[in-house]
Amino acid sequence: MGQLFVAVALALALFAATGHAETEVERGRYLVETLAGCGNCHTPKGPNGPVLSKKFAGGDVIKHADFTAVTPNVTPDPETGIGRWTDRQIFLAIREGKRPDGRLLGPAMPSRSYRNLADEDVRAMVAYLRSVPPVYNPISAESHYDHPLPADWGPAYTFGFADDVIVMPNQAGTQWDSLGHIFFEGKMYNGFDAGMVSAKGAERCSIVATRERFIMRGVFLDVARHNGVEALEPGYAINPADLDATAAAEGVEIRTGDCVIVRTGLLGQRRGKWGDYCGGPAPGLSLHSAPWLAEHEVAAIATDTWGCEVRPNEIELFQPLHIVALVHMGLHFGEIWDLEPISADCAADGVYEFMLSAAPLPITGAVGSPLNALAIK
Ligand code: HEC
Repeated sequence: MGQLFVAVALALALFAATGHAETEVERGRYLVETLAGCGNCHTPKGPNGPVLSKKFAGGDVIKHADFTAVTPNVTPDPETGIGRWTDRQIFLAIREGKRPDGRLLGPAMPSRSYRNLADEDVRAMVAYLRSVPPVYNPISAESHYDHPLPADWGPAYTFGFADDVIVMPNQAGTQWDSLGHIFFEGKMYNGFDAGMVSAKGAERCSIVATRERFIMRGVFLDVARHNGVEALEPGYAINPADLDATAAAEGVEIRTGDCVIVRTGLLGQRRGKWGDYCGGPAPGLSLHSAPWLAEHEVAAIATDTWGCEVRPNEIELFQPLHIVALVHMGLHFGEIWDLEPISADCAADGVYEFMLSAAPLPITGAVGSPLNALAIK
């Protein structure tokens, strides 16, 4: 007992394909246009739905048993909108439900729901509202409330919560390819018809088949470090001699059922300046490493590149190692793994083998899945 387990995360935070940092106005647009739904009330509705030429220009009447509310013009028009309000005044209207003259905003303005918003998010919303086109739209009617409004909307609720929504390709970040990901001549692994993967998902070879897998011995081959480079050059084909030399230098042995994790250094080099990281030229496993992978009976390989294998491809066939490995051998590929932390950790302690925990998410019918890989030593 008394063993010390050190877990090193191998997963990369999911990154946007464009790789560019979001501006405050962009963040504000996202919040205002989606989660906060400001336009649902502040953009007037015509017979064909929201009148986009009058976006955020107000004027809709919201009738309720206890009140008749009229939505104000919240575009930056100085005369009829909130163009003359300071950022702070708009901030307070959204989160505290207060107008500049101190009067409280009534329902339907959902001030109570906005009470828990973070300062940063409200500031971003204000920045976005300031950036939309001003619309001249005088609104003469005023809201009418049958009951007096409270003195203020009080403190943020004692109970607060946060939720998330993810919309992304399953293979946009650190991930496993399932065996239903690649076809050759209309077939996938074990001879199943490619047609078994439809818009309803994969009937065979989906990632769900491996939901209880990928807890295995991991062997880390730091080819970039062994070669003494920050990153292998794009187009560098990692062949069996590279794999053997790296394993020998690290004093590690490859065994049946292992996941062999190969570091090229590309992800570390490209972080924050991704460029053509996804799909462009990259170092990676040579097609000629296929016999080595078969002889060593490895169960999976993973790299810090977009597609495991070297690009450009070595022969006139797109992703030939994918075809050999996924379609013919049943060998899983792990891609876009962040191997920088494990590289430093293994260099420090000289231990290049560990228990790998890298189960996929059991997404029904999916042909790939994000994962959070941990190396446990
Ligand atoms: C469910 C409908 C609804 C939603 C959603 C909504 N509002 Fe309002 N908003 C109102 C109503 C109604 C008023 C006027 C309340 C009153 O007259 O007391 C108002 C008032 C305001 C005011 C005060 C303007 C003035 O001239 O007095 C601002 C600013 C404002 N809303 C901004 C926003 C922003 C920003 C969002 C999104 C974060 C938002 N509102 C979402 C209904 C809504």
